[in-house]
Amino acid sequence: MNITVIGGTGHIGTYLVPSLVRDGHAVTVVSRGRRTPYTQDDAWSSVTMVACDREQAEADGVFGRLISQQEPDGVIDLRVFTTQQAHQLIDSLDGQHLVATGSIWSWGRTSVVPMTEDVQKEPLTAYDRGKAAVEDVLLREQSRVTASMVHPSHISGPGWAAVNPAGYFDLDVYRSLKRDGSARLPLDGMALLQHVHAADVAEVHRLALMNPGASAGEAFNVVAEQSITLRAYATLLARHFGHEPQLTFLPWADFVAEVGDSNAVMTHDHITRSPHFSMEKTRRILGFSPRYSEEETVLSAVDALADL
Ligand SMILES: NC(=O)c1ccc[n+]([C@@H]2O[C@H](COP(=O)([O-])OP(=O)(O)OC[C@H]3O[C@@H](n4cnc5c(N)ncnc54)[C@H](OP(=O)(O)O)[C@@H]3O)[C@@H](O)[C@H]2O)c1
Repeated sequence: MNITVIGGTGHIGTYLVPSLVRDGHAVTVVSRGRRTPYTQDDAWSSVTMVACDREQAEADGVFGRLISQQEPDGVIDLRVFTTQQAHQLIDSLDGQHLVATGSIWSWGRTSVVPMTEDVQKEPLTAYDRGKAAVEDVLLREQSRVTASMVHPSHISGPGWAAVNPAGYFDLDVYRSLKRDGSARLPLDGMALLQHVHAADVAEVHRLALMNPGASAGEAFNVVAEQSITLRAYATLLARHFGHEPQLTFLPWADFVAEVGDSNAVMTHDHITRSPHFSMEKTRRILGFSPRYSEEETVLSAVDALADL
């Protein structure tokens, strides 16, 4: 198959593109050409790279044409955020299968546990609303292409900082755990995170594209099997670094004053959702089982951080 992957040099593409090449497909990656994959892989030498700033090409009205010029049999769109983007793309396609990346955030807060793909969405932010609307267009409103959506949780892996046990991304939280096992957590530390390894996210995109009969018109969650509380995550890392945990729990106002507004916004975004999503449908329909547990995912990310 000729497969075009939009945004294929980041977290997901690092794993997805080489796996498609190894399956024998001719792969074209569309990106601006600024990023390089997180890991080296000889498979990249046979990938056709097309340099394009999507937003600029969309503004110029040429993005769809650029994709159709690649003559894809299948398209994986790893960075679609609005219905306008979805329409520009599908208007240029003609019956191919399209796999698009959504987000568990399109559901907003967790309402039942575990969250399944058919739970009513109550998006909180413009990002959430965009992803939910893209799903409506691709899976329910259009008939130009057959489409599937893949909804990852917090994408993690070696090469970048995962969401830390305080719910934001600052490396100092890891450094403190490494130094003496201490962490300062919001509230009672009982909010949940649910990381997912980028390799597992890539694999669900691949399976959705390779099984269009089963995946067409369907959304699939991809998450670690278990969620983890902030306090259990901090404890896991403290012990990983050889310390007993020393956890301090801060009232919200104190936490905000200590970490600053921009970090607190990220923490708030994570803890207000406290995700625990199910992958039963992804397992049942696509035959997927994750390679990485929650613990393996966060430890592989932390162990690869160079400057702790
Ligand atoms: N991060 C998470 O935890 C998370 C969770 C749930 C869902 N998601 C979804 O996952 C998708 C992101 O996947 P990812 O994490 O693999 O992405 P990523 O690591 O952020 O990589 C982004 C990719 O898109 C390319 N890109 C960025 N801006 C571009 C532009 N203007 N035009 C063309 N290409 C551009 C980048 O290459 P260049 O910079 O070289 O252009 C790169 O290939 C999004 O749909 C996001 O909503 C992410």
